[in-house]
Amino acid sequence: MYTCKARFFDTQIHAPWASGPYGPEEMAKLDRLFSVAGSLEGMTIVEPGCGTGRLTEILAQRVGPLGRVIAMDISGTMVDAARERVAAYAQVTLHHGTLEAYPLPPGQVDLVLCHQVFPHLEAKERALRLLAKSLKEQGRLIISHFIPLHVINDVHRKAGRAVEADKMPSDREMRRLFMDAGLSIDFMSDNDERGYFLCGRLGATETTMQESDGVGKGEDVFEKKSAGGRL
Ligand SMILES: C[S@@+](CC[C@H](N)C(=O)[O-])C[C@H]1O[C@@H](n2cnc3c(N)ncnc32)[C@H](O)[C@@H]1O
Repeated sequence: MYTCKARFFDTQIHAPWASGPYGPEEMAKLDRLFSVAGSLEGMTIVEPGCGTGRLTEILAQRVGPLGRVIAMDISGTMVDAARERVAAYAQVTLHHGTLEAYPLPPGQVDLVLCHQVFPHLEAKERALRLLAKSLKEQGRLIISHFIPLHVINDVHRKAGRAVEADKMPSDREMRRLFMDAGLSIDFMSDNDERGYFLCGRLGATETTMQESDGVGKGEDVFEKKSAGGRL
């Protein structure tokens, strides 16, 4: 199912987005993400599509020695690079393989962080159901990208056959996917300056979210204060 995509990502190992250090703009976006997520100390985090482990290393530092980061990737070269990067962190479990095939611990995960991977998941409904099942009652699921939806989809369309059809769903579709998986969306924004960000959790969808028609045009979609504050 993922053979072609795994080969594609194997070749991306030296791409600037894959292995270079985060620049100041990216760090600022990650800081916003972490301000919403709050303290991660001691938490169990799942990071599908970890790539070379750039974020995995930061997560390992943030959860600390009593926490746990479970990260996986379909690309062998990416996982090898990630292993090297996080070798010093016993709290990280790295796996070469798909998120869908990984035996996630049910009801034990505090945070699922899908950073720059969600469009690549081939069975999004199934993946979300699996991830939802892994969450603790108060657990959260964050989907984040440094770039907005319209740029994500454009970049993938131009990147070659392996990923050309990998799209970030529209806000309407995303809400349906979340609802079907038993998840609600607390906060969602999509704009050129801040990129794409969605924070969800277990439970029924709330109706207080305000939707604008901006999705795909680089504007906020809808926003609601999350527990940790506004992004
Ligand atoms: C655009 S890259 C992002 C990597 C990393 N999260 C980052 O931001 O640098 C997407 C990654 O997801 C991985 N991937 C795609 N589908 C996956 C799946 N079903 N399970 C696990 N990893 C997957 C790819 O191999 C690739 O390394």
